[in-house]
Amino acid sequence: LIAKCLFEEFIIPDFKSFTKHIEEFYYICEPNSAGKVADYIPQLARTDPKSWGVSVCTVDGQRYSIGKTNTPFTIQSCSKPLTYGIALEELTETEVHKYVGQEPSGRNFNELILDQNKKPHNPMINAGAIVVCSLLKTLVKPEMTPSEKFDFIMNYFKRLAGGEHIGFNNAIFLSEKVSADRNYALGFFMREHKCYPENTNMKEVMDFYFQCCSMEATCESSAVIAATLANGGVCPITEEKVLRSESVRDVLALMHSCGMYDYSGQFAFKVGLPAKSGVSGSMLIVVPNTMGIALWSPPLDPLGNSCRGVQFCEELVKTFNFHKY
Ligand code: DON
Repeated sequence: LIAKCLFEEFIIPDFKSFTKHIEEFYYICEPNSAGKVADYIPQLARTDPKSWGVSVCTVDGQRYSIGKTNTPFTIQSCSKPLTYGIALEELTETEVHKYVGQEPSGRNFNELILDQNKKPHNPMINAGAIVVCSLLKTLVKPEMTPSEKFDFIMNYFKRLAGGEHIGFNNAIFLSEKVSADRNYALGFFMREHKCYPENTNMKEVMDFYFQCCSMEATCESSAVIAATLANGGVCPITEEKVLRSESVRDVLALMHSCGMYDYSGQFAFKVGLPAKSGVSGSMLIVVPNTMGIALWSPPLDPLGNSCRGVQFCEELVKTFNFHKY
C-alpha cells in the first residue's frame, strides 16, 4: 500500500478529482423527490425519505463517502447476491444450479412462478433466494443449530464487509415474519414442487431467509462488500480472500442480468454494471477490478428500485466509461 502511495499506482490515480464528480452526482440526485418508501412493514415506512448516502471503496482501499453513510439500514434483497456467493463457495456451482436457474424471470421479484424445470428462475428473486437459503441450511454444515447458522452467515457478511458495520434488526425480522404471506406461499409452492434438498425444514428456511434480509449494513460497509466483489472476492480492507474468484464471477453475472428486478434488462442496457437493489432503498454496484459503490435512498420507483440510486448510476456512466460495452 505504501509503495502504491509513493508511486501513485492506484487504480484511480486521481482519486480526488474522481470524488469531485461523485459529489456532483450526489447533489444532482438529492432534489429528486420521486418514489415511495416501502410501507409493507411499519419499521420501513418510518424511514426518512430524504436519507441519501453514497460510498465508494476501490479495490485498493481508497474511500469516499457523502451524505448519510453511517446510518444502518436492513440489507433486504442485497443479501441475495451474498447468500448466493456463499452457497457457491461452500457447495460449487454445479450443486447450487441443480436447484436454481440463471435466467431473468421477466416477472416481479416475488412472483409465484418456476421455470420449465420446476426451479426458481435465478437466485436474485425471492423464490431463488429462498431455495439458496434451503441449500445453506440443509447442505452446508447441516449439524449447525439455527443460531449457529445465523452466526455463520453473519460472520461471512462481516468478512465481506472487512469487519465494518453488519448488524441485525430484530424488529424488522419479526415484522417481516408476520407480513410474509407471499413468501410463505412461495415456500409452500416450492415444497410442493420438490425444489428443496431432501430433509429441508421449510419453516426454518423461511426464518433464515427473513434473518438474512434483516441484517443491517451502512453505505460505508456496503461499499466494502461491493469492493470485495469488484476485487475477485478479496476484501480490499483486510486483504482476506472471502470468496473464490469463480464464485464472484457467477454472482456478478447474475447481478448483471437479474439484479434490478424487472428493470434488469434496461439497467444492463443503460448502465452496464452488475448491481443489486433492495426494498430498503439500498443498492450495491460493482465496477469489476475497479471499485464498489453503495447507495442508499429509501424512495422506490414502481419496480422497487431506489429512484435516486438509479438516477445516480445513469449520471455515473454519462461521465465515466464504466459501461462494460
Ligand atoms: O422478501 C421480502 O419481501 C423482503 N424482505 C425482501 C425484499 C426485497 O428487498 C425485494 N427483493 N427482491
